[in-house]
Amino acid sequence: MDQTVGIALPKGRLGDKVYGLLDMAGYGCPQVLDPGRRLIFESKENGVRFFFVKPSDVAIYVQRGAADIGVAGKDILLEYSPDVYELLDLNIGRCRMCVCGTDGSNEISGRPLRVATKFTNIAKEYYSGLSRDIDIIHLNGSIELAPLLGLADVIVDIVETGATLRENGLLELEKITDISARLISNKVSYKFKYAAISRIAEKLAELV
Ligand code: PRP
Repeated sequence: MDQTVGIALPKGRLGDKVYGLLDMAGYGCPQVLDPGRRLIFESKENGVRFFFVKPSDVAIYVQRGAADIGVAGKDILLEYSPDVYELLDLNIGRCRMCVCGTDGSNEISGRPLRVATKFTNIAKEYYSGLSRDIDIIHLNGSIELAPLLGLADVIVDIVETGATLRENGLLELEKITDISARLISNKVSYKFKYAAISRIAEKLAELV
């Protein structure tokens, strides 16, 4: 079996940072620095093949074995519960999943709370734990607009610096959970490429 490890990284700042760590650990691939339109980068000598995908797609590539390992935010893992192994908390891409709104907007009674979010499963589970009825409104982005336009009472969303909330007059009302980037592995690959995958995980663990 080809022991090259296929690695799915999230496009953007987080993926670039993880690539930097892997490069430092001896898994670099020079073409990544001069990508052009190329989508797959391979270093035969270092035994790795990289591809950069939409952050929310990393777990799908890994679960289905198109990638052996990858880096995904804990938000995505909680929301979609992919059938993968979570090998390591990389301690980067740190942020938090929160309920946000205007002062007191989470305290309405007499009707279900209207909650807008991209993370419907996380929101449903959180409110079910509080035995609270909600009316879930699924949006794909710019979630902060929903309470501003009266579409929702609150939002469940990621807060990193808090700048988006501040600039739109919204507050962090309740923290649901802390989020960070995780190294994940396909379950079959973990068995058949155990030596190579565990070596990558160990090297990354030393660096984070
Ligand atoms: C995320 C999140 C918030 C923002 C929080 O949005 O949904 O809008 O980042 O970051 P901050 O606390 O540092 O301001 P993202 O940029 O991923 O865009 P989208 O959700 O609107 O697609």
